[in-house]
Order: sequence, then C-alpha cells, then structure tokens
Amino acid sequence: MKAIMAVLPGDGIGPEVTAEAVLVLEAVGRRFDHAFQFGYGLLGGCAIDAAGSALPLETVMLCQASDAVLLGAVGGPKWDDPTAPVRPEQGLLGIRKALGLYANLRPVKLNPALLHASTLKPETLAGVDLLVVRELTGGIYFGARKEAAPGDEVAYDTMLYSRPEIERVTRLAAQAARGRRGRLASVDKANVLASSRLWRRVVSELMRDEFPDVALEHVLVDAMAMHLIRRPAAYDVVLAENLFGDILTDEASMLAGSMGLLPSASLGEELNPHGQPRGLYEPIHGSAPDIAGKGVANPLATILSAAMLLRHSLGLEVEAQAVEAAVDFVLAAGLRTPDIADGAAEVLGTAAMGAAVVRNVTG
Ligand code: IPM
Ligand code: MG
Repeated sequence: MKAIMAVLPGDGIGPEVTAEAVLVLEAVGRRFDHAFQFGYGLLGGCAIDAAGSALPLETVMLCQASDAVLLGAVGGPKWDDPTAPVRPEQGLLGIRKALGLYANLRPVKLNPALLHASTLKPETLAGVDLLVVRELTGGIYFGARKEAAPGDEVAYDTMLYSRPEIERVTRLAAQAARGRRGRLASVDKANVLASSRLWRRVVSELMRDEFPDVALEHVLVDAMAMHLIRRPAAYDVVLAENLFGDILTDEASMLAGSMGLLPSASLGEELNPHGQPRGLYEPIHGSAPDIAGKGVANPLATILSAAMLLRHSLGLEVEAQAVEAAVDFVLAAGLRTPDIADGAAEVLGTAAMGAAVVRNVTG
C-alpha cells in the first residue's frame, strides 16, 4: 500500500517522540512492503514562532492532502500567557475542528508488566480494559464565550450540544462497544445541565433504536470520577462530552501507570482514499517542557498512536498488532523509560526505547 502521512511534531518532547513513531512506521513499511511517505508541518508554539499562527493554513492543507495525521504535543512555558492573543492550544483545537474530528478514542488498557507503575492497588487494576470515547468538536470548548476584558469581572463559556452532534459520536462509541464487550456507559451531568439532559435523551433513544444489543448505562460525571478509581475494570466503553472526557481521560490514564503509555485517535466523517477515516493520532500526554530535549521522554504513547493510525486510517490491522506486540514485548522484557522505571534493571532514553520497538517490529 502507498500512504501519505502528515507529521506535526509540535513543541517540547513532541519532536522527540514523533521521530521514534516515524521510525517504527518505516519499519512496518519495510516488513510489510508498504510505501509510507511523511510530510512535516508546524503546529502550536513552533508555528506561532515561525508563522505567527498556531495553525498555519499550510498545515491544514498538508493534513487534508494526507491519509492520516500523526501529532506530537503542543505548548510550553514560552507561550504560556493565557491572555496572549495566539496560544499553542488554539492550533490543536483548530486542527480538530478543521478536520471535523468529532470523536476522540482513548483506550486504557493495563499492561500486566506495569501493574506496579500505577498509584492504585494492583487488585483494583486487575482486568482494566476500557475505551473512552470523547466528543471532540462541540460542547463548552467551542460554544459562545465572553472573555473578561481587563478590569471586567464577568466571563462565561457555553456548553451547547445538538442532536446530530450527540448522535454521531454515540453511534461511533456503540459500534466500538459491539466489537468489544458490548457495554456502553454514557457520562453526563443531567441532574444539573440542560445540555446533559438532551445528551441523555438522545443517547437513550439512539441506543434503543439502533443498538438494542449493547447494554447502556448512564453515569453522572462526578460519580464516574469516583468509579474510575474504585472499580475501573467494570467499564467497557465510556462515552463523554468534550470537557468531561478531557478530565476523565487524564484520570483514566493513571490506571495504565503513566501518561507516557496512552495513545489516542481522533476520527471524523471524512474518508481518505483508502476508504477509512482521515484520523489524527496523538499521545494523550502533553509537551512536557521540563524534560524536552533531554532524550528521556517515553515514546511508547506516540508509537501506540501510530499503531492506531495503521488500524483506523489505513485498515492495516495485522501491522497495528505487530506494533502493539512489539511494545508489549519490550515492556515484558523489562525495558523502561524513566517515567515507568520503578527500580527496573534497564532504563532507556527515548531513542533507545524506539529502537527496541523497531527491532521487534522488524522481527
Ligand atoms: C487534550 C488536551 C487538550 C484538550 C488541550 C491541550 C487543549 O488536554 O488533548 O486532552 O483540552 O483537549
Ligand atoms: Mg486533556
């Protein structure tokens, strides 16, 4: 297969971890005889510095001309002033919106080799395997807002959802549940928020009409925050609106021991020439400016994001599994980056960890 991927390394550790994921993709290309091409673009703080915008038009065009997008991370202290007119995060939100990526898939699976890397007790974690589907282009992130002008004491944001926005992400989550253990937990705050009451009604109706075979429960977001650390293995697919999903996925990432391990896929309606969604794939961790440039960042979340890219945007399931198996293998062999070291025998830097995965992909 021929495939063109856009790579947006971004800021902080973004360039270091995406470089390793690209090497892994190249190894997949060699082993399975695919011609992968990579086009690089600017996003976030580096784009502000170079082009004055967190999301230059060329970057949008590059992504639209590609089959899928691999992203590192954006942001850093240099661009941290929350009142600045241009901020790195605008690039991230902008590219999600520009590509219509309404569903963000964040799988959280505990790797048995890392049972002790988590702050939670091993018996609480046993059997954790959940998929959070976060709505990504609506809600309070994109609703009308009023910024407080200097001296102003009032500001607001609006959490707005429409039926079609709720339906499409619910459909995607329910389909995912069908391919897993057949259970969907929809998160809302229907005891307080009007948008959540609509959310709950639309999810209930759609599930009743289209997915009667998938077991549905509604869980209030505050209760979900508790259940996720009390009995995380009880969940299969968790569906949440944008802000709730943002918060719950940071929490859920701790179930896997480190943010450095969790990949994500953002999917929309647009299909690429392979007939698959033109998705965007990124680790769920941030740009980690404190360790940027030191060569110690954990590249596994980005490498696992590349595996999701192979699966969801290129339809290459066997290749995706080869990458995931290679990651499992290096972890089972005891190789660790500092974030998951836990007294491990062999602590590696970013490039050495990437190379270990490449060796295992190549077989
Ligand atoms: C995430 C991040 C982003 C978000 C930030 C960086 C804008 O936290 O991808 O979860 O809130 O969506
Ligand atoms: Mg977040």
